[in-house]
Amino acid sequence: MAMPKVLVLKPLPEEAKRIIRERCELIEPQANPVSREKLLEGIWEVEGLLTNDVRIDSELLNAASKLRIVSNQSVGYDNFDLGAMRERGVIGTHTPFVLDDTVADLVFALMLAAARRVPELDAQVKQGKWGEPGCGGEAHYGMDVHHATIGIVGMGRIGEAVARRASLGFGMNVLYSGRSRKPVAEQAFGAQFRTLEQLLEQADFVVVLAPFTPETANMIRAEHFGRMKPSAVFINASRGQLVDEEALEAALRNRQIFAAGLDVYQREPVKAGHPLLSLPNVVTLPHIGSATAKTRYEMAMTAANNLVGGLLNDRPIHIVPELRHLRGGGLE
Ligand code: 8YV
Repeated sequence: MAMPKVLVLKPLPEEAKRIIRERCELIEPQANPVSREKLLEGIWEVEGLLTNDVRIDSELLNAASKLRIVSNQSVGYDNFDLGAMRERGVIGTHTPFVLDDTVADLVFALMLAAARRVPELDAQVKQGKWGEPGCGGEAHYGMDVHHATIGIVGMGRIGEAVARRASLGFGMNVLYSGRSRKPVAEQAFGAQFRTLEQLLEQADFVVVLAPFTPETANMIRAEHFGRMKPSAVFINASRGQLVDEEALEAALRNRQIFAAGLDVYQREPVKAGHPLLSLPNVVTLPHIGSATAKTRYEMAMTAANNLVGGLLNDRPIHIVPELRHLRGGGLE
């Protein structure tokens, strides 16, 4: 029997390719990234697809009549049109757990960098400005992270990893908001549930970690920044589409909040000249939440196993919650 054809659109380590080649015919496009047009032309013959950013919608599913599984090399799956996939019985998988601590570390890097103005002052020292008038003393003051109040918008696995660092590592008071109560986080880290509005008014650090869904799209707008403390620091390590970037830019420019730390944006990569990039009180990173060699390797291995397991049903796989019924369950 011919091995199922699978299209791999993300660079994979050899070990991950070996897992796939053992049971599937692995196809990699000559040119990567492949254009949408080219993808739709050539996808008719594949039964599995490995990606993390290709939009999986009716247009693609119509062109991919043999497709049975899409394996995302990411924990986020906002590129999935879940309704269209459900309709056609196409399962979608992702890579939870393996990146939780790596992303939580990056969140703290952004909190510390924004609160203590690390990039701004690093640049001043490198420009030899240290000691010049207005470049020292109070002009270098920042915000304390230890023992401050953190507000986590979206207490999922990554949220819990952040709460652990905040509570046990920094003695912080932990607040959270979201669709449901999290007894484990409340028990383990003293996390207190708040409405979004209460959290915005009470937190010194507002950390957005909720997934991008139709419900969370643009959930942080001007009126939300208006509720925050002038000393507040805003962090986004989820998806840029959750935040009204113009409202954020205005809140930073007008010092309505103290600073922001961003790893994600409405449009990525962010282009030079983007208004947010000219502000001294915003730390900007290029979507590196999970970007360590170890974690990206584990994400690739997980995505490869999900792909093969999804086709051959010979190993446990991480099906996204909304599509688990298509395979009578699967790993959490
Ligand atoms: C990915 C992420 O690396 O896992 C996710 O959801 O956002 C990151 O870990 C990202 O998708 C790469 O573009």
